[in-house]
Amino acid sequence: MVKIKEVARRRPANPYLPRPVEILAIKDETPDVRTYTLRLRDGAPFTFMPGQFNMVSVLGVGEAPISFSSNPESREALDRGIFQHTIRAVGNVTKALARLQAGEQFWVRGPYGTGWPRDLARRDLTIIAGGIGLAPLRPVILQKLEEKGGRLEILYGARTPGDMIFRDEFPDWEARGARLLLTVDRVPEGENWPHRVGLVTNWLQEMEVRPEQGSVFICGPEIMMKYVVRGLTERNWRPQRIFVSLERRMECGIKICGRCQIDSEYVCQDGPVFSHAVVKDLLGTDL
Ligand SMILES: Cc1cc2nc3c(=O)[nH]c(=O)nc-3n(C[C@H](O)[C@H](O)[C@H](O)COP(=O)(O)OP(=O)(O)OC[C@H]3O[C@@H](n4cnc5c(N)ncnc54)[C@H](O)[C@@H]3O)c2cc1C
Ligand code: FES
Repeated sequence: MVKIKEVARRRPANPYLPRPVEILAIKDETPDVRTYTLRLRDGAPFTFMPGQFNMVSVLGVGEAPISFSSNPESREALDRGIFQHTIRAVGNVTKALARLQAGEQFWVRGPYGTGWPRDLARRDLTIIAGGIGLAPLRPVILQKLEEKGGRLEILYGARTPGDMIFRDEFPDWEARGARLLLTVDRVPEGENWPHRVGLVTNWLQEMEVRPEQGSVFICGPEIMMKYVVRGLTERNWRPQRIFVSLERRMECGIKICGRCQIDSEYVCQDGPVFSHAVVKDLLGTDL
């Protein structure tokens, strides 16, 4: 087995150069979200931290930041350099990616940015995600299920049951000890949905992880994160124990162009994962 230190040592000299990746498999998560299983064309090892992202490009179309959605410590990752991206087709690059098939290629440069804090992830943890926001948190979930340290609860909301990503994995996550709180905005007529209906903020009172023991990692639409953070603060959660992953439009991904800048912070390099203690100062008390 290739060790993580060994992988890091073998990284290419220039991490800013796009490298071609082969699409090994594609899984449809929802009508507009797919998970791509990937490996560098040159077969070189590739590693990253949960929460980091790649700048993903399709030649002649453009580039977009995309988080990793797989476990960097899985056997396939360590032995074969395999990683995954889960991508919603919304615009130029992501729609071009949606037209690709297994066996074809696109380009990546990275990994970039900060990760979710590993030490806190090992303790009691609540993950709160909305829609595609579960993708950057799946690596944390998969690592934690392997390690079995601290309790894990996942409060996940989507527009409808059909918009939930990784839905086929939920029974396995629960069987391995995760507590799942699922909620949707609405249930289409005729669909059986035995879980909750309403915004994730409606269910914060069901959290069992306590502010004095645990941490909360949040990813989703900014308006959702804003109200979740507000609700947590009302429940005595300290900003140092709340982490959010921010989205900003990006160009360089490496703190040169300034496109992603909020005051003194660059989301591409100082983030995208920020403690609420930092974000609060950047964006006022709104988030
Ligand atoms: C750190 C990070 C990680 C991310 N991880 C993921 C991930 O794992 N999976 C995923 O699916 N997405 C992820 N995203 C979001 C993704 O990068 C964006 O959706 C990106 O815009 C897609 O690129 P595109 O070329 O396909 O879409 P674009 O062509 O950029 O369009 C995307 C959307 O933005 C609108 N838009 C276009 N131009 C502008 C503009 N100038 N100003 C405002 N809005 C505009 C479009 O109308 C469209 O609705 C991540 C973003 C960040 C910052
Ligand atoms: S994307 Fe260029 S500085 Fe962040």
